[in-house]
Amino acid sequence: MADARKRCDRTAAWGQLQERFRSGSASFDLRDAFAQDDGRFARFSQQAPHVFADLSKNLIDAGTEQALMALARECGVEAHRDAMFAGERINNTENRAVKHWLLRAPRDAQDPDSMAVHETLEAMLAYAEHVRADATITDVVNIGIGGSDLGPQMAVAALDAFRIRGKRLHFVSNIDAHELDAVLQQLRPEGTLFLVASKTFTTLETMTNARSARVWFQQQGGNEIARHFAALTTNVEAARQFGITTTFGFWDWVGGRYSLWSAIGLPLAIAIGAQRFSAFLAGAHAMDQHFRREPLERNLPVRLGLLDVWYRDFHGFASRSIAPYHSALRRFPAYLQQLEMESNGKSVDAQGQPLPFATSPVLWGEAGTNGQHAYFQMLHQGTDRVPVEFIAVREPAHGIPGHHELLLANALAQAQALMQGKPDAGGHRNFSGNRPSTFFVLDTLGPESLGALIALHEHRVFTSGSVWGIDSFDQWGVELGKVLASDIAQRLASGDTVGLDGSTAGLLQRLRP
Ligand code: F6P
Repeated sequence: MADARKRCDRTAAWGQLQERFRSGSASFDLRDAFAQDDGRFARFSQQAPHVFADLSKNLIDAGTEQALMALARECGVEAHRDAMFAGERINNTENRAVKHWLLRAPRDAQDPDSMAVHETLEAMLAYAEHVRADATITDVVNIGIGGSDLGPQMAVAALDAFRIRGKRLHFVSNIDAHELDAVLQQLRPEGTLFLVASKTFTTLETMTNARSARVWFQQQGGNEIARHFAALTTNVEAARQFGITTTFGFWDWVGGRYSLWSAIGLPLAIAIGAQRFSAFLAGAHAMDQHFRREPLERNLPVRLGLLDVWYRDFHGFASRSIAPYHSALRRFPAYLQQLEMESNGKSVDAQGQPLPFATSPVLWGEAGTNGQHAYFQMLHQGTDRVPVEFIAVREPAHGIPGHHELLLANALAQAQALMQGKPDAGGHRNFSGNRPSTFFVLDTLGPESLGALIALHEHRVFTSGSVWGIDSFDQWGVELGKVLASDIAQRLASGDTVGLDGSTAGLLQRLRP
């Protein structure tokens, strides 16, 4: 259980890692490491289900990795992982179990929730097939935000090659109605299906957008809300009160940023069909099994999560750049931002005690090669070292000759340049090199490999969060802004600035209509 975990900076392994860093790792040089060890690539790369990962261009050696494994063991990462898979309430601040993995597991008579999961999945997939077969529905609009938007939006883009033709999928998330307006202008009510996706069915942005969509639908002469609106939510009662009768539920043990595998995945199921959605779940399940069963030393999510701890707490790297060399993965960095920064962006442990070490880094990035012509300058020659994560796909989904080789060549060349540098060039042409990167390879970008890639990152975030001893499954940090926004919304209407700080009061006056 979370409560029994030992604080990482009080372990013997932490002290050893500090010592290792002081005595040599700080000046560790990747070029020397490769020169001295022919087996480095083999030692630090591995094939996990559907995902190959090369970690060899990272600032680690076998001794450091061993010490990191010892850290994981001392912190009880394995017991914590097993507690999650046993359905214990490891999200202790919300007193909830953490069971998104069950959503992609085969039926399991032992698990009390498995039957409901599969019944809901079957109903949802049947509905997805029904929508796919209904030629009158030309547009599907997902209205949701955060985990109720980023996952399906990212996955629908990633698997566009498998998308049913003749249907357009739209995603509306922002309270800024410029977004909703731009989508509505493309729609006809009789051809549109709105999916209101909200775990709580109370989120301000989603409910405001859903109400405006309903007003638009009725004003345009639409009828049969029941046929043109469906809800994906744990709060089925609130959806009914909204007037939606087609609802697909899920459970409080599915965190928002882990909900793509639940009814929140309906836009993806409509886009790629029931069979491929099942393959997507199977890919993630294969990674779950890997995470559950492989020894820590050959456990890819564990190796990555520990590397994250090494970089954040010993090297002091404050950010990580994600570089998917596949345009269909362009939303993957945004997805990972929520996954990692909402999960591990905490400064207290699971018991609420302040932590004296750093936790979540900042994640950011763009699809390659675009990033190369924007911020890679800083990655190669800037004063900060930023670990970069490349994702490359061996086989393209298009048949246009001459491009994919160049795309892959660029990904490889960037990783090579970061490491090798050009240290003798001098002045403006000097590249210091020794800049770390991780390189992921998928054979193809398909439902299984995408499922596995996402689950890999979920478990990686679990691992670092577990070492840090934090509750990776709550998100209290988003609450204060929500409360203040509702107060300020009233003040914007009334002009009342009493009790506000000078800046907020001044800006409020400026922004009033
Ligand atoms: O931003 C906070 C958050 O609670 C996220 O964790 C969640 O994904 C998002 O809001 C949306 O919540 P809901 O699905 O309940 O509308």
